[in-house]
Amino acid sequence: MIGAKPSAAKRSPAPKAAQGQFIASIVDEVTRETVKTVAAELGRQSPKIQEGGAEDILRLINTNEPPGILIADISNDEDPIGAMDAIVHLCGFETKIVAIGLINDVALYRRLIDLGASDYLVKPISAQMLSNALRQPARRHGREPLKPKVSRLVAMVGARGGVGATTLAASVAWSLSQELRQKVVLLDLDLHFGSLALSLDIEPQRGLREIFGNPDRIDSLLINAAATTVGDRLRLLAAEEPLEESFEVGQAGLDVLMAELAGDTDVVIADTPRAMSPISRYVLGMADMIGIVTELSLPAMRDTQRLLRLITGLRGKAPVAVIGNRLGGVAGEVGRADFERGIGAKIDFHIPFHLKTALSSVERAKPLAEVARDPKITAELRRLAVALGPSEAAPKASIVQRVLRK
Ligand SMILES: Nc1ncnc2c1ncn2[C@@H]1O[C@H](COP(=O)(O)OP(=O)(O)OP(=O)(O)O)[C@@H](O)[C@H]1O
Ligand SMILES: [Mg+2]
Repeated sequence: MIGAKPSAAKRSPAPKAAQGQFIASIVDEVTRETVKTVAAELGRQSPKIQEGGAEDILRLINTNEPPGILIADISNDEDPIGAMDAIVHLCGFETKIVAIGLINDVALYRRLIDLGASDYLVKPISAQMLSNALRQPARRHGREPLKPKVSRLVAMVGARGGVGATTLAASVAWSLSQELRQKVVLLDLDLHFGSLALSLDIEPQRGLREIFGNPDRIDSLLINAAATTVGDRLRLLAAEEPLEESFEVGQAGLDVLMAELAGDTDVVIADTPRAMSPISRYVLGMADMIGIVTELSLPAMRDTQRLLRLITGLRGKAPVAVIGNRLGGVAGEVGRADFERGIGAKIDFHIPFHLKTALSSVERAKPLAEVARDPKITAELRRLAVALGPSEAAPKASIVQRVLRK
């Protein structure tokens, strides 16, 4: 139901929607009572306020007469983003949609607003908060539907330090650009300590800070000045900002950068700092694909599980691949079955600890996939790149399907 898009006819806006019904689907009784109070304050005669979540409210929506106000509680929804997407498509552009939930996270907030919610309120909510949210002008009113994002954003994040996230980000980027002929940008989101440029023996240009510091000024000239060409179809955006200066990568900068790159980039691979700064959460909340790189140590098992939980909290079911790396090379490895039980998910990729390949990669400052000669490692690195890349780059779509969590 959630994945299915209604027909275009159903999506056309209803002119009288502002006067339309007041409907709500709320998980808990306390919040339901608050919603009832507010509906009464607004003079709504017969609001429909049911027990349930965002997916349940879909049944209440009459697409011929879209509601004027819709309040959806996403606290228990497995796929809140999918549910909100379906709600917006069924209601059209004039319904005021307010989401309510338990998770206080800016990335989730932005996703919901981008989809078309007017506001997102975190429980516990008061009648005052809710009526204020309902009095705000609908943000989507008269707005054009969002343009489809063109570049695919792949976030690589390590469950622990030194597990090989940067190594694999560079390797996947190389395979996608050289073997699968995709136009790729490698983006190091750690402007202070990032090591992508160093690992490829590249002196970072000075422009990345400029890009994130002045989103209003981002254009293709600025991007070209900041990017370094690594190879055919492969560019790098990285920095080495002085440690004396604090600098946060802002979400607005990333949004504008992605929009600017869209024209001539198929895939952006973001080496995402593990320290959960706002930008890391934001990227994990919006990436088209997330690769969690992990060893099989006990701390890495705990933190892979925590990362998976964070991502589920941010966006419900998400396309995540768990990438086991340096396998067989860490003292005190947990057995694979125990590790998978611990994280509650399968390890999708198994990349062995391969000293010779890693040494060659470091000494020649070349991506792992470029220098690897052992068929066991080359095959798995290629399978990884195919799975993380756009489906049109894949020789067989079924490989991609297999790694996406259902
Ligand atoms: N499969 C592998 N076999 C052997 N060594 C590997 C493998 N993958 C990565 N390495 C080595 O592990 C070390 C750490 O890799 P890398 O810097 O990519 O990790 P990281 O997760 O990005 O670390 P950080 O937390 O510092 O960002 C490097 O020396 C790299 O060459
Ligand atoms: Mg790294």
